[in-house]
Amino acid sequence: MGGPEQQVFHPNANIVRKAHCSSMEQYRQMHARSLERPDEFWGEIAEQFHWEAPVKSNFFSYNFDINKGPISIKWMEEASTNICFNLLDVNIQKGLGDKVAFYWEGNDPEDYTRVTYKKLLEHVCKFANVLKSHGVEKGDRVAIYMPMVLELVVTMLACSRIGAVHSIVFGGFSADSLAERMHDCRAKILVTADGVWRGDKLLHLKEICDTALDKCSKIGHNVEKCIVVSHLTRLSNAHTQKTPGMKPPVHKTPFTPGRDLWWDDEMKGASNFCYPTWVDAEDPLFMLYTSGSTGKPKGVLHTTAGYLLYAATTFKYVFDYHPGDTYWCTADIGWITGHTYVVYGPLANGATSVMFEGTPFYPHNGRYWEVIEKYKINLFYTAPTAIRALMKFGDEPVKKFNMSSLRVLGSVGEPINPEAWLWYYRLVGQNKCSIVDTFWQTETGGHVLTPLPGCTPMKPGSATFPFFGVQPELLDENGKIIRGPGEGYLVFSKPWPGMMRTLFGNHDRFETTYFKKFPGYYCTGDGARRDEEGYLWVTGRMDDMLNVSGHLLSTAEVESALVEHPDVAEAAVVSHPHAVKGECLYCFITPNEGVHFSTTLVAELRKKVREKIGPFASPEVVQHAPGLPKTRSGKIMRRVLRKVALNDRDVGDTSTLADEGIVEALFSNRPPEASKLLKAC
Ligand code: WTA
Repeated sequence: MGGPEQQVFHPNANIVRKAHCSSMEQYRQMHARSLERPDEFWGEIAEQFHWEAPVKSNFFSYNFDINKGPISIKWMEEASTNICFNLLDVNIQKGLGDKVAFYWEGNDPEDYTRVTYKKLLEHVCKFANVLKSHGVEKGDRVAIYMPMVLELVVTMLACSRIGAVHSIVFGGFSADSLAERMHDCRAKILVTADGVWRGDKLLHLKEICDTALDKCSKIGHNVEKCIVVSHLTRLSNAHTQKTPGMKPPVHKTPFTPGRDLWWDDEMKGASNFCYPTWVDAEDPLFMLYTSGSTGKPKGVLHTTAGYLLYAATTFKYVFDYHPGDTYWCTADIGWITGHTYVVYGPLANGATSVMFEGTPFYPHNGRYWEVIEKYKINLFYTAPTAIRALMKFGDEPVKKFNMSSLRVLGSVGEPINPEAWLWYYRLVGQNKCSIVDTFWQTETGGHVLTPLPGCTPMKPGSATFPFFGVQPELLDENGKIIRGPGEGYLVFSKPWPGMMRTLFGNHDRFETTYFKKFPGYYCTGDGARRDEEGYLWVTGRMDDMLNVSGHLLSTAEVESALVEHPDVAEAAVVSHPHAVKGECLYCFITPNEGVHFSTTLVAELRKKVREKIGPFASPEVVQHAPGLPKTRSGKIMRRVLRKVALNDRDVGDTSTLADEGIVEALFSNRPPEASKLLKAC
């Protein structure tokens, strides 16, 4: 019989009937052609877009083998275009000017608005002119630290209109993280907002920016201007009125004349015409930082033409988008999912989307379902961590709302456990929707392993098969290809148009991180298993990264935040399973000689991580470690620490440890919150 993960769910006949790709046979043919004739396959897709200059000779060229020279990936070299022009002007020319591009739904249900393609273009042109008036030129970096407001989309597209490179930092990152990223990319301008409500929490973003701007100049880079959207003042502030005893936020946003500028003031005089700057196919479009295993974030760089083709094509096939559909991706634009599947992919298809500022739990635990009913969402895309969190409230909140508009349900960010998959399928999707479990990364730019609705028979927890243009392999530790069923390192042997091109300012690190371990392949850092029918199951990271609520973190970056505390001698961080977050942080701390390991110290350490990285990285357990289990050569044996975290005495061979006695001491030091965490899993 087997568990739920062995069950096969066939796509619903109504979905099959109108699907862009409606059988596995068609999928196999298209996939084979995309690998054998990439120039034809992607060339036909490119025809729907505007190219100011065409491709001349080579549609694509690459070197994936580090032994043969520098790694390089080029698509449509010599062609020139402008992404913003393709997303807005071209769609308007096609008659979509009055179509809604985004329904904006605020944190509070009383705050909502919409913007059409035509209006969006107007705002974008104006802001592009504002950026130009402050000296932003092609290739300059614009840092963005914003909540989920329409001005964020406007800023991104304004950058792409003038060939500037946006570098968005998720609004949950701390001032230190923002400063480090602005410094690394040498941002010329920062765009932000005064603040944002997340549920009933008010965050003063501009204050975080001020701290970050200060830190950034102290470490050697001056961001010239900071443009601030006045967001809080235009909200209904219904939260404050509804919650007795809650004071309306009387708060004056700090403002540095000369450096800081209000968005509205700048937009007032700006012209709503801005001729697009034609850029080369391989000119950078944006960069986005992702955690690196050394602890220093990596500025993943995406370029223009290939990203456009890939974002557009994955959106169309993976969500089986048809004109008339209303789509909603709950991801924050600060992450890659928001870049590709809130902004670029949907707009490239002329789609109508919902952009949501709030959380799934405010003002009630049925908010997602309420929004689905309100906008009659057909295509819905969210993360397993949200599904697991919502499952905890039972079926009732879902049943209160009408889910019948839904056709495709997406999942992204981490492996989805079969239990959550089945709940999503049965309750939210009412047994009739296709679930697309999409595996991809900041680096891949778009989906690389995914089912296609109306085509791929689904197995709960499997990201199934490669998307067009993608050729996965499983390798063993020695780089030997594993054929048929088996488990190994997930790698790709060819570039697809949307993959990253380099790490900003550090091509060496790009080559070592992704191409050195297995020459000839792009190494994802994830492990995967293939079953008898060729289905792929991503099993998780093979390196020192952890995935907390779909956000990647490296153990090294958390450890370096912890050891900054003056009372800490050493720190080691391991991953621990978590019922909602998927994984969470379990930290071992060795204090300095003579320091008492106290609850105050634990609180300070949590604060330190929040300050250095952001609240989402806050450790779940902080345990006192009189010493760390180290080999004689000084390497921390993390597998022993993982066993201690799980209270599993089967630690394996510890004979290479310098001090075997330390293992017992660690087990007896497990704090009560560790047992509580274990019980909740
Ligand atoms: C994990 C997010 C299993 C994986 C788009 C990857 C997944 C990392 C899935 C990238 C999935 C993402 N199944 N694991 N469907 N989707 N991951 O860069 O470990 O924030 O390497 O991009 O998330 O995270 P990133």
